[in-house]
Amino acid sequence: MRTIALVNQKGGCGKTTTAVNLASCIADSGKRVLLLDCDPQSHASIGLGIDTDELERSTYDVLMDPVVQIRDVVHTVTDRLDVAPSSVILSAVEQQLSGQPDRENRLRRKIAAASDDYDYVFIDCPPSVGLLTFNALVACDEAFVVLEPSYFSLHGALKIVETIGLVRDQLGMRKRTKVVLTMFDRRTRFAKEFLREAQTRFGREMFDTVIRHTVRFREAANWGVSISHYAKSCGGARDYKDLSREVIADEERLAAGEFEPVVEVQDVGLEPGMDEWILSQPGPHFVEGGVLFSLVAPEANDVELVGTFNDWKREDGVRLTRSDNGVWHTTVDIGPGRHLYKFVIDGIWVPDPANENRAAPNEDCIVEVYRRD
Ligand SMILES: Nc1ncnc2c1ncn2[C@@H]1O[C@H](COP(=O)(O)OP(=O)(O)OP(=O)(O)O)[C@@H](O)[C@H]1O
Ligand SMILES: [Mg+2]
Repeated sequence: MRTIALVNQKGGCGKTTTAVNLASCIADSGKRVLLLDCDPQSHASIGLGIDTDELERSTYDVLMDPVVQIRDVVHTVTDRLDVAPSSVILSAVEQQLSGQPDRENRLRRKIAAASDDYDYVFIDCPPSVGLLTFNALVACDEAFVVLEPSYFSLHGALKIVETIGLVRDQLGMRKRTKVVLTMFDRRTRFAKEFLREAQTRFGREMFDTVIRHTVRFREAANWGVSISHYAKSCGGARDYKDLSREVIADEERLAAGEFEPVVEVQDVGLEPGMDEWILSQPGPHFVEGGVLFSLVAPEANDVELVGTFNDWKREDGVRLTRSDNGVWHTTVDIGPGRHLYKFVIDGIWVPDPANENRAAPNEDCIVEVYRRD
């Protein structure tokens, strides 16, 4: 049995749509599949036509009640596809299990007890890294990180990859990570550039199949069916069919213990997405830990920050760090007040081109820090 968690702490990036459609395609190919809804929003359950207001039992009971097994809560959707539905009460698990020993292992035990019943278990996770996602990460042997073309989504993906690494190291368990890009609109330059960036970062861990953006997914979800049962021949249905083939094709290698290396996060100095954020909102920013100063200077070899906060002394100055795409940055913890500053780029003093708040044109830049209560 393969247990696969669909994860990304960023909301709305296609986790549930991927869980529903991949589960459905793999069931259609003849495998016995369980889709376990681990999100209190219950979108996977609703997306497969289950009325979550009428549930007697749900994944909440599986997690909370030692005697309730997965088979006690499942609904059969098609011949080979079962759903363990969730309900909104699942959101109470975090609080109710707080301080309980072994609380991250609950799902793992229950899934292990169902291992004779299924070939595949997909776990649809909520958009957060709380106890529910943790239970899923501990229970799974593979995590499919779902990515839509946005930097917040990439940021979420990199964070969850780090968390998977922690779970793996702490528990000494093997966890295979794969990344799937969804909502891909090949007509936009941004999407194509994003795909290239994702391929650079994740390399072989990315699935070859990319899921296109199409309104058909929303329509199918409204009808409570998978896309292959709603519009079998549409492009989106074909994409998930292709993805399911890729997933099934891995079976043999996995059975032989050939796990691919876990994704290593590339250190680009800044959080992913921050560069773009800096470019879109020039000037100093107030961030956790102080004031973030930044400068776009791909050609520079050395950038320092001097100002009233270090008595304009370069020897006491602050060196900025360069990230891959030529954005220099540093965060300085300066107290409340009105501060003047300049950058020193390769020895030349220049005002911050992104800060128009200046003592005089071409003069020192001003940053005002207010005490935050
Ligand atoms: N490939 C796609 N093309 C167009 N719309 C899509 C696609 N995939 C998903 N959607 C739509 O985007 C919305 C969010 O998708 P989905 O619910 O799968 O994301 P999610 O990551 O599970 O969200 P959450 O984090 O809230 O659980 C839904 O309305 C869904 O129908
Ligand atoms: Mg979801």
